[in-house]
Amino acid sequence: MPIIAVFSSKGGVGKTTIAANLGWCSAQLSGRRTLLWDLDPTDGAGFMFALEAQRKRQARSLIAGDVPAQALIQSSDYAGLDLLPADGSLRELDSLLLRMGQRHRIATLSRQLVRSYDRVILDCPPMLNELSAQVMRAATLVIVPLPPSPLSARALDHVVEEIRRHTRRPPPILPVLSMIDRRRSLHLEALAANPGWPAIPLVSSLEQCAVQRRPVGTFAPRSPATLAIMRLWQGIESKLAQMEAAATMA
Ligand SMILES: Nc1ncnc2c1ncn2[C@@H]1O[C@H](COP(=O)(O)OP(=O)(O)OP(=O)(O)O)[C@@H](O)[C@H]1O
Ligand SMILES: [Mg+2]
Repeated sequence: MPIIAVFSSKGGVGKTTIAANLGWCSAQLSGRRTLLWDLDPTDGAGFMFALEAQRKRQARSLIAGDVPAQALIQSSDYAGLDLLPADGSLRELDSLLLRMGQRHRIATLSRQLVRSYDRVILDCPPMLNELSAQVMRAATLVIVPLPPSPLSARALDHVVEEIRRHTRRPPPILPVLSMIDRRRSLHLEALAANPGWPAIPLVSSLEQCAVQRRPVGTFAPRSPATLAIMRLWQGIESKLAQMEAAATMA
């Protein structure tokens, strides 16, 4: 079940930027039918891909079971990449999930989506609540962007704890050093301490994604940022392939 959650309890760490660019890599580099599902009411992923805002705010209706996902999914400008956009109706998502009393609602919907997609990528809001618990139950793999700071290290602890508390079959976590500035000693120390973790640089080209409203690979194809995102995506593909092989053997 290739459901990839990009999650942190901390805000502004690069979740949406990474999720959007990974979605593009998945569709355009790996040729995977890919869905980017935005669970954050601020609708960053839809903005990033310059989607037309929907007239009706219906993201909540999908969770409630009132409309099918197909009614809300929009295609992006990139072959193979669709979006399931968020809107303000997701503000009450947490209380809706609690009221529904279905602990696996997000997992159930994700599994339905992977019937039509090879990869489903979840862009998550920075919260520890019923939604984050449900995302952990749904995810095959959890990507945790970590700018090098003690507060980010705490955010990783939160994810580990969230998975421990809420899942019976814990998904693997892939920490990603994000917003790395090699001129800063703290950042160099973080790289040295975690040589196996992918790293995404702090660069204006990634900031530009939200200005140009396009993935970095489309306007700076040979930049260090694009190469770093592509390496991260290849690492995710390898991890998923390993997991699939292990599941087949079991
Ligand atoms: N590697 C990077 N280099 C430079 N700027 C970046 C990088 N990654 C993200 N940004 C910028 O940092 C800000 C926060 O990024 P982003 O919205 O992706 O984080 P987020 O974790 O999704 O935030 P939120 O928790 O609010 O959803 C944005 O302005 C984005 O353009
Ligand atoms: Mg975001």
